[in-house]
Amino acid sequence: MGLKTPKFSFFYGNLPEILKNTQSNTLRKWTAELGKTYGYYEGHLPVIVTSDLELINEVFIKQYSNFMARKIYPWQFSDNSPKMDLFLSSNKRWKRMRNIINPTFSPSKLKELIPIMNKCTQRFINILEQNLDQELLISDFLNRYTMDTIWNSATGMDINCQSDLNNEYMHKALDVFKDLEELKFGFRMTSYLSEFRPIILQFMTILTYLMGKISTTNDFVDPLFWLTQHIHQIIEQRKKENIRRKDFTQLLIESRIEDNESLKKNEKIVMSKFPLDKQMSFEEIEFNLVGFLLAGFETTSSALNYSFFILANHPEEVSKLQQELDEFYAKNDQNFDINFDNINQLEYLDMFVTEVLRMYPISSNTVNRRCMFPTQIGDLKIPIGVSITVDVLSIHYDHNIWGPVDTEMFYPLRFSADVKRSQSAYLPFGIGPRNCVGMRYALMEMKMALAKILFIYNVLPTENTPTKLVNFTEGTVRRPKDLVKVKFVKRQNTV
Ligand code: HEM
Repeated sequence: MGLKTPKFSFFYGNLPEILKNTQSNTLRKWTAELGKTYGYYEGHLPVIVTSDLELINEVFIKQYSNFMARKIYPWQFSDNSPKMDLFLSSNKRWKRMRNIINPTFSPSKLKELIPIMNKCTQRFINILEQNLDQELLISDFLNRYTMDTIWNSATGMDINCQSDLNNEYMHKALDVFKDLEELKFGFRMTSYLSEFRPIILQFMTILTYLMGKISTTNDFVDPLFWLTQHIHQIIEQRKKENIRRKDFTQLLIESRIEDNESLKKNEKIVMSKFPLDKQMSFEEIEFNLVGFLLAGFETTSSALNYSFFILANHPEEVSKLQQELDEFYAKNDQNFDINFDNINQLEYLDMFVTEVLRMYPISSNTVNRRCMFPTQIGDLKIPIGVSITVDVLSIHYDHNIWGPVDTEMFYPLRFSADVKRSQSAYLPFGIGPRNCVGMRYALMEMKMALAKILFIYNVLPTENTPTKLVNFTEGTVRRPKDLVKVKFVKRQNTV
C-alpha cells in the first residue's frame, strides 16, 4: 500500500512490541517516528494506523458503509457465528442489531434507570461514609460500584457486590478482563495463525468445557462462559415471568415485539451465509447483555478512577466543582436532587469529565474498522479485510488541535472556548454511527457519582497517591498500573 511500517519480524509481525508496551503507547511512539498514517503487522495481517482527522472522517463517517466491521479480535470465531453481540458483529447484522439496540439507550429509556442508579450511588456513599479519613485504593470501590450499577441496570438482579467483597459475579467479570489483558496463550496463537482462528478457538472452548466438567470447583470454568450461563438463566426466568421490569433485559426482550413495525413482520434478512430474523434471537440478547455487563463495568470504573486521581492532585478542581454544585443546590428548593434531567446543566462538571477522557481515553483499542469493500481514499487504496485503527492518544495530545494550553496539563476550560474542532479530534467514545452505544449511560453514571460525592466530601491525596501516571495496562480498557490511593473527608457545613 506504499505505507511506512516499523521494523517487523517474520511470523510475529509487530505484535510483541505492542503486547510489551500496550497498544496506545506503542502507536503513539510509532506515529511520532513514522507520521500520521502508516502500517504495522499483527502476525502477518496488515493494519493501517492513522491520526489523520480527514481520513478518520472518511472511514468512520462518510464511507462508513464500506467499513461496517471491527478488526477481527483474537477471541472472535467468525463474522457469521450465532454467538454474536453488537460489538463484534459486522455488516448488515451489525446494522440490524444497532437499530434494535439504539432505542434501549435513548434518554427516555435511560430515565427509567434513574432509581437504580440512585440506589447504587447511595450505597457507594454509605460505604465511603464508613471509610472516611483513611487511605482507600479507590479502584476497588469503583469496580464494585460500577458492577453493582450495571448488573442492576442490565438484569434487575441486586447482586450488591458493594458490600459483599467476595461476590462471585464481580470476580468472574474481573477475570474476563484479566484474560483479555494478558492475552492468554490460545488468543496469542489466533493472532499469529489467523487462518486457523476458528479451529484454535473451538479447541479452547472444548478444553474449557471439559476442565469445567472435571473440576469440582468453579475455578476452571471460563469466566465468560460462566457469565453467559447466568445471563441465560435470567432470560429463561424472565420469559416465564409476567412482570414488567425496568432494566436492559426487559428492554431487549420487548424490542422483539415493540419497537419497529417491520420487526413485527419478522422478515428474514439475508446475511452472507444464512438468513436471520429481523428480530434479535434470544441467544443474541444473551450475548448482548453479557457485552453490556462487561462494557459497562471496567470502562466507567476506570474513567472514575482517573477522575479521582485528578481530583486528589488538583484541589483547585475540587473547589471549582463544589462551588458549581453549591450554587446549583442553592438555586433550588430543599427537596431538589441531581438527576438525569438536570445533571447536564452542570457545565463545569461536564468540562471536567470531558477533559479526564481526553487525557485518559479508556478504550482507544476499540476505535477501529475493517474494510469490507475495496475503497480508495485519496491515494490510499484499502483492500478488503484490512483494518484501520486510530491512534487516539496522538490526536488527544496534539498541540495543534488542543493548544495553546499545554496538552499534558489538566485544563477543562479548553472545552469552553469557542474553538471549532473537527469531530474526529475527540474520540473517547469512538466516532460515527458505530460509536459507543452506552455513552449517555456512562456519562450519566460518572457525573452522578462525582456530583453526589463531591457535594458531601473532599478528596485528598495521601503520601501514596501517585502524582503522575506512567505505566498502563491495556486489554480493551486502558488502566493505570500505578495504584490510585486517595482519602475522603467530610466537607464542613454539609450534612
Ligand atoms: C466511560 C465509559 C465508556 C467508554 C470510554 C466507552 C468507549 C467505547 C468505545 C471507544 C467504543 C468503540 C466506538 C467506535 O468504534 O467508534 C465503544 C463501543 C461500545 N460500547 Fe462503550 N464505552 C463506555 C461505556 C459503555 C457502557 C456503559 C456500555 C453499555 C452499557 C457500552 C457499550 C458499548 C457497546 C455495545 C459498544 C459497541 C458499539 C457498536 O459496535 O455498535 N460502553 N465504547
